This record gives sequence, C-alpha cells and structure tokens, in this order.
Amino acid sequence: MLVLGIESSCDETAAAVVSNGKICSNIIASQIAVHSPYGGVVPEIASRKHIEAINTVLKQALNEAHFTLEEIEGIAVTRGPGLIGSLLIGLSTAKAIAYSLNIPLVGVNHLEGHIAAAFLAEKSPEIPFIALVVSGGHTSIYLARSYHDFQLLGQTRDDAAGEAFDKAAKLLNLGYPGGVVIDKIAKDGNPRKIAFPRAMKDSSDFSFSGLKTSLLTMLKKRGRNFSAEELPDIAASYQEAIVDALIEKTIRAAEDNSISRVVVCGGVAANSRLREKFAKETTAKNIELFIPPVILCTDNAAMIAAIGEIMLKNGRRDSLDLNAVSRWPLA
Ligand code: KG4
Ligand code: ZN
Repeated sequence: MLVLGIESSCDETAAAVVSNGKICSNIIASQIAVHSPYGGVVPEIASRKHIEAINTVLKQALNEAHFTLEEIEGIAVTRGPGLIGSLLIGLSTAKAIAYSLNIPLVGVNHLEGHIAAAFLAEKSPEIPFIALVVSGGHTSIYLARSYHDFQLLGQTRDDAAGEAFDKAAKLLNLGYPGGVVIDKIAKDGNPRKIAFPRAMKDSSDFSFSGLKTSLLTMLKKRGRNFSAEELPDIAASYQEAIVDALIEKTIRAAEDNSISRVVVCGGVAANSRLREKFAKETTAKNIELFIPPVILCTDNAAMIAAIGEIMLKNGRRDSLDLNAVSRWPLA
C-alpha cells in the first residue's frame, strides 16, 4: 500500500512516502534555527512555520519517491500528542488530501510512530517486545503486546530525558536543543569524573529533575564559572547519569517480563553514548536490540506512515471530523 505520512507535532514539518514497510522518501524541514534564539520552541512561531513549509515538504516527498499525489492510497497523520496549533496544520492538510482524493485517513499517536520507526528496518522486532520511548516530552517504558497494544511499565515522574539534556545545555550556555551538543562535547570527557545522582534506582519510574538541580547547585557553588577544559567532563558525567538510568530500567523491565527484545526510540535514542552502551549491555544479557537509524529517531514522517500503513491494512479509518489532541497517553 502506498501511504503518505505527515508529521507536524512540534518543530519539524515532515512528509514521507512509505510502501509496504519501505521508505520511498523522508523529508524533514527543521525549525530549530528559528526557535533557538528563544531557548525553546515558541508554539505560535511553530504553527506559522508549519504553514509556510508544508506544501513544499509534501511536494518534495512525492518528487523524491517518484509518485504523484493521485497515486497515494492512504494518508497517515500525527493527531497528538503535541502542540495543538502545530498538529492542526498537518491534520488539516491530511484531511484536505484525503477528501479531495477520496482515500482513507488515519490519525496516529506520535509515540506509537516513534516505536514504529523500528518496523522500517530490515529486521523488525517480533511481538512481544519492550519499548523505551525517550524524547523531548516523553520518557516511558512499554510492553508491546501487539503493534498497537501497549502496557505502561514505567515513566518519568518529572522531566523527560530530552528535557534533562536541553535544560543542562541551557545552564551550560550551549544553546537549544541541547541533546546533540552535549552528545558531541561529551565525547572528549570522562563520564566518571563527576558523580551525578541516579534517582529512584529501585523503581521502574524515572526522575531527572534532581539531576538537573545537582548540576545547577554545582555551577552555583562555582559562581557559574567553569573552564573550557572542564566542560567535556561535566557533559560526559551528566549524560552518563541519564544513559545509565535509561538502560538499567529498560533492561530490568525486559528481564522482569522475560522478554528478550528491546526497542529504543525517540529523539534521545539518537544519543551516541546511549546507542553504544545499550548495544554492549543488551549483548551481554542476550537481549536483541532494535534502535532505528538516527534520522528515524528524531521527529520524522516515515515513522508515522509506517504505523499508518499497518493500521490502514488492518481496516482502521478515521473520519474527516477527526480532531487534534495535545495529550494522548499511549497506555
Ligand atoms: O523525538 P524528538 O525529536 O521530539 C519529541 O517528540 O520531543 O526528541 C527531541 C529531543 C530533544 O530534547 C533533543 O535534545 C533530544 O531529543 N536529542 C538528543 C539527541 N538528539 C536529539 N538527546 C541526546 N543526544 C542526542 N544526540
Ligand atoms: Zn518525537
């Protein structure tokens, strides 16, 4: 089935064409440069930028896939969770296309999309599997009982892991978004140099706000002074605290549920230290690891089309009065 996917839940305007679980095109227009002077995403600006970009992104996705709009057989769009104004741009566009071409429409949960990025690989995970969804707004562990039946096993009680990266980058004056910058700087640092706290070690839930506070306290004690030579160690040690918590709890969830397959997805799954350590620790425990390529970890529309295609093939259809939702728990 030839499916067009549209994603506009936050600061990326994205469109992709997927056919029978294979990517034909995957176009992403990032708004990072527009938002970075503000230190975060400005919702009103995001909506306006989505309007400006969506038609070009759609045309590019079709051109690159070598298909015309009339050849598309189904359309999948992110319905939530996300910024309402941003979601509405993608959703309205998807509805207009579905209506004009008289093709089926399906509204997709963004988190389910992140997990579905793993289905686009050569080898896709069998059911059941454990999924760690780790992004700017979410940090949750699920047990996938089917491709869209999830049980929540643990989640963050405060900040998401991506937020923890972004807030640290702000405190260290490294700009927005912080994950990529900290990842890069940490490569030259010693992850054991500073003993940042690992919260709620025995729980299946996460907590990252204490970690951010301990960085703030450390910086305040030094009058916010740190040398350029110290920065890699601070970044590496801080990153290690996040990475350790994510890996430890995910592997424990797999072991507790006797499941030997783990999917790691969402923007933070792009983190090189997380990828490297997850690979090592799952190999040691005989757990099969599925991490999508970096381009499919951060927000994209191929993942939306991937789960959309599965839903459409299962007969799922949404009506044209479908509304966007800012909050939409997966389980
Ligand atoms: O999935 P995503 O693109 O958007 C949301 O759904 O939130 O995730 C964005 C988050 C941001 O917090 C960003 O800092 C983080 O993913 N991120 C990273 C890396 N690349 C993106 N965090 C750590 N290391 C990275 N390489
Ligand atoms: Zn996302």
